[in-house]
Amino acid sequence: MSKDGSQTVFLDLGEQSYDIRIGGGLLKETDSIRRLVSGGQAFVVSNETIAEHYLDDVLAQLAGLKVDTHLMSDGEQFKTMTTLEGIMGGLLKAGHNRTTTIVALGGGVVGDTAGFAAAAYQRGVPFIQVPTTLLSQVDSSVGGKTAVNHALGKNMIGAFHQPRGVIIDTDTLSTLPERELAAGLAEVIKHGALADIDYFQQVENDIEQLCAIESVRMTEAIKGSCEIKAAVVAEDEKESGKRALLNFGHTFGHAIETGMGYGEWLHGEAVGAGMVMAAELSLRLERCSEQDVMRIRTLVEKAGLPICRPEEVSIDEMLGFMSKDKKATDAGMRFVVLDGGIGKTELVDDVPLDLVKEAISACS
Ligand code: NAD
Ligand code: GLY
Repeated sequence: MSKDGSQTVFLDLGEQSYDIRIGGGLLKETDSIRRLVSGGQAFVVSNETIAEHYLDDVLAQLAGLKVDTHLMSDGEQFKTMTTLEGIMGGLLKAGHNRTTTIVALGGGVVGDTAGFAAAAYQRGVPFIQVPTTLLSQVDSSVGGKTAVNHALGKNMIGAFHQPRGVIIDTDTLSTLPERELAAGLAEVIKHGALADIDYFQQVENDIEQLCAIESVRMTEAIKGSCEIKAAVVAEDEKESGKRALLNFGHTFGHAIETGMGYGEWLHGEAVGAGMVMAAELSLRLERCSEQDVMRIRTLVEKAGLPICRPEEVSIDEMLGFMSKDKKATDAGMRFVVLDGGIGKTELVDDVPLDLVKEAISACS
């Protein structure tokens, strides 16, 4: 911990390594973002909702540089090639060259879109992640996955492009809607469930303080999540193996999101119910105990997340979507399951269909 109480997690990726700084008041500092900009130009991408609260602080840090701002429309439905083209047009019209740095100020939608713009603009320029939702602070801003959606699939057009650094000001959570906070807690729980029983237990102990955004506990939880994700990414940046474990709960969750239509359930809500289903499946594969399932179920519920399948999507519909999921292989559906209990996971693709049905039924 540094003198000001902020914490730093290092993501070790050789020449592309970077720090993830976490703490209250980082945007009010004079140079938390500024010191990561090496050229004389910066281009801030955000949206109206976020800009209203936090853009002035970011612009104050960048004073003296040539700075332009692009506010994209707010919502997952705007994570598109059209928005990307708007960002590219903004950069070109304002005369930004290859020395510019893109600053992504916002949640995962802004981060993924601005990150992809940085990956593609003039064949790649540096960017800085300034995540403002809990989900983006513990997950999407870390690890360099950037993308926009296509009408035929989510995150289908993108690139791996690591940021110069990630600046997580926990004070930004004060303006976040409650539902979005819970969605972020799903990813916090996910990180413990998939990789670290001690972290999971800490989240169990602190869940009330986390729901109340108590600052010390929240900073610790974000740091723990970033450490888990950073360790996985450092080992498998391009997802040729271990990084797929970060998708615990996602096979079921994506089926819920697709079945409901994107935007009805937040991604974190679907992952919440999806993790309970993944735990139920692990139990049926004799890879965890009933107590493990109960612990995950209880924690997801305490975080304010759904633990059941939405009535609107039948079990058969879910199975249909799962078999078409982009993570399905030639061998069939792929699941991340617990492997001996909470904190250990494995990717499996030879699961009997009746066990998958039973796991969903147990959450219906
Ligand atoms: P989001 O970016 O849509 O943000 C949620 C809402 O909160 C938006 O309306 C936003 O304007 C608002 N908001 C953001 N910060 C705020 C603040 N501090 N105060 C008030 N309102 C605020 O959603 P998200 O959950 O942050 O991100 C979801 C996206 O992240 C999805 O597109 C998903 O695909 C992506 N994602 C990417 C990765 C990755 O590794 N790149 C990982 C997980 C998720
Ligand atoms: N959120 C999954 C990943 O970054 O790989």
